[in-house]
Amino acid sequence: MKILNVVGARPNFMKMAPLVRCLEARGIEQKLIHTGQHYDDNMSKVFFDDLGMPAPDIYMGVGSGSHAEQTARVMVEFEKVCLEEKPDLVVVVGDVNSTLACSIVAAKLWIPVAHVEAGLRSRDMKMPEEVNRVVTDRLTSLLLTPSPDGDENLIAEGVSKDKIFLVGNIMIDSLLANVERAKKSTILDELKIAPKSYGVLTLHRPSNVDDKETLMRLLKVVHEIADEIPIIFSCHPRTAQRLDELDEYNAIRNTGDVRIMGPLGYLDFMRLVSQSKIVLTDSGGLQEETTALQIPCVTLRENTERPITVTEGTNTVVGTDPDKIRAAARKALDGNIGDAKVPHLWDGKTAERIVDVFQKWHAGR
Ligand code: UD1
Ligand code: UDP
Repeated sequence: MKILNVVGARPNFMKMAPLVRCLEARGIEQKLIHTGQHYDDNMSKVFFDDLGMPAPDIYMGVGSGSHAEQTARVMVEFEKVCLEEKPDLVVVVGDVNSTLACSIVAAKLWIPVAHVEAGLRSRDMKMPEEVNRVVTDRLTSLLLTPSPDGDENLIAEGVSKDKIFLVGNIMIDSLLANVERAKKSTILDELKIAPKSYGVLTLHRPSNVDDKETLMRLLKVVHEIADEIPIIFSCHPRTAQRLDELDEYNAIRNTGDVRIMGPLGYLDFMRLVSQSKIVLTDSGGLQEETTALQIPCVTLRENTERPITVTEGTNTVVGTDPDKIRAAARKALDGNIGDAKVPHLWDGKTAERIVDVFQKWHAGR
């Protein structure tokens, strides 16, 4: 069996690293393909270093662009790779444009696709990721789900049960494998902050940051919260560009203790999150990592494709209403996260279960 593993953007790397390691340990032939959707060192290379992942065998270097441009560039380049490499299976993870583009290419070449993190649904088709999820799952032969809601969504969409495998959450494989290593990070000392005395903020959803009014409303309430507790803001490049253009921000920039930083490496960021008192975010992955770490998470979105982090974990989805954000932050800062637990199969062994599925599938062909 020859496998092509696809990565492209920041949230892909921590989902792919455990799988690459497990395939290697079982002696399965694989190649790692990086589309180049994310390319800055602090959005890409740092994760290969921090996660101990081998450098990509093929780097396609597609870069940024509109959705159509980026998706099309990945498709053109990945088609060449597939024709040259002739894999038995293409593995895609998550919900970014690279995930979608490579699934379409493989499906049209009759190469089976495995989707890690299948079945998640926000039911918000204005989210580019939701379009990517729905189309990718429609084209996929092996649907590897992180939680039972994923199975239910796929079955409701008519996917045959024998293609769905509940394997657990692979991001948590990376988290658990690196929690000890992350303790060596000096990020808290560098920022001169003590454990449990600060909050962490990330923002990058187009619906939050590309609309000036929404971004400003969110920043105002964050700066209010930062009057009480310092907020470390790991700023995504999309958001950094929007902040530069937001003249209104200058009026509140120096109120509250908000520390804007460039994107952080995985080990520094996991150290920072694991010792925080509260996380405010619109990230998908961070909703899961905070649940696994039992850190209160206030999600600045109207919906989530990861409802198990709310029903079982530490997540509260509040949208962008300042009153709701204040109330949820208050609850978290008062130490009230209820009886949260870590969901079933978020246990660090998801990659092993995925490779079991691949081997059984290949043996039955
Ligand atoms: C993408 C994903 C999103 C994911 C996010 C994780 C899609 C549709 N979106 O959003 O699901 O949550 O990554 O971080 O695939 N840029 C840089 N350097 C980089 C990469 C990007 O400066 O290394 C800037 C460019 O100006 C680019 C912008 O960020 O235009 C947005 O990048 P893009 O990959 O299009 O979308 P993200 O917002 O990063
Ligand atoms: N992350 C990181 N440094 C940062 C911000 C995020 O290492 O400064 C990691 C973290 O593990 C997070 C993952 O990147 O879960 C994905 O982040 P992102 O929010 O970019 O993508 P999403 O999960 O929303 O698609």
